[in-house]
Amino acid sequence: MRHLNSLLELKPANVNAIFGLARTLKDRLRKGDRPQVLSGYVMAQVFEKPSLRTRLSFDAAMMQLGGASIFLNAKEAGLGGREAVPDVARVIGGYSDVITLRTFSQKLIDAFIEHSGVAVINGLSDERHPCQALTDLFTMQEVIGEVKGKKCVFVGDGNNVANSLAIAASLCGMSFVVCSPEGYRLEERFLKALAKKCPSAEVSQTDNFKSAMKDAAIVYTDVWTSMGQEAEAEERQKVFGRYQVNEKLMKLAPKTCRFMHCLPAKRGLEVTDEVIDGPQSIVFQQAQNRMHLAKGLLLWVLEKSI
Ligand code: CP
Ligand code: NVA
Repeated sequence: MRHLNSLLELKPANVNAIFGLARTLKDRLRKGDRPQVLSGYVMAQVFEKPSLRTRLSFDAAMMQLGGASIFLNAKEAGLGGREAVPDVARVIGGYSDVITLRTFSQKLIDAFIEHSGVAVINGLSDERHPCQALTDLFTMQEVIGEVKGKKCVFVGDGNNVANSLAIAASLCGMSFVVCSPEGYRLEERFLKALAKKCPSAEVSQTDNFKSAMKDAAIVYTDVWTSMGQEAEAEERQKVFGRYQVNEKLMKLAPKTCRFMHCLPAKRGLEVTDEVIDGPQSIVFQQAQNRMHLAKGLLLWVLEKSI
């Protein structure tokens, strides 16, 4: 049994193993083949924040693999103070084989790993979004082929998505540029941990659009105000105003450059309709791949082969 908490805990070989499983299952589904490898298995999903893609993609993945899925919001689970967190984790672990969590605090996911006794998957915390970043690199490989030596530019807030994407890109040999205002970039402490874990990582941060977009294979953005930061929304709109991904910005990158967004998007803020609905956008392929990646990940954490 394994966990997916931070991508810093993964080796490139682990990433390749997850991608291999996801690719095989995606190909087999296309042929109408749904191997029931997780028949009798139970996944519990415990979410403190809303979700469309993460919740549904894991539900669908589990069901297509023959398993079952149970959803609880954090209050129903008793995480609002009804019981001690280790007790909740242990009880849920007693009924399930794998737990997917979406939390504010990263510490809650760490506690489930310590106390639940089953495989735990980080379905987003304030710090990280590893399932998304794995899906993103999987999608990039599908669309642009070999990603090694290519550049991914993340425009906007150096948030949870940027954090995990920086690691996933580095594990796959991609260079990663955060194009962001000072004060909203990836933390130095995180960059040091990444450099230690992955000495070949090429990660830089800038507010120079021209140099960032030059030779970009992928331009990626996410919301300026993440879940939990709603009180800062107005201030953030001012800070990030000039970081909108629009046609003018995309013109600074090669024509072959693709646009990605983890979704949900705030159209008209971090991205315009022209870009997200335009020919360079691969956001819906990316969203759909969440399910294929979830399947690969479920088999990987449960150490199942196909
Ligand atoms: N990208 C993503 O995680 O979407 P949801 O918040 O809808 O799960
Ligand atoms: N950064 C966003 C990602 C949503 C999938 C958030 O945390 O709200």
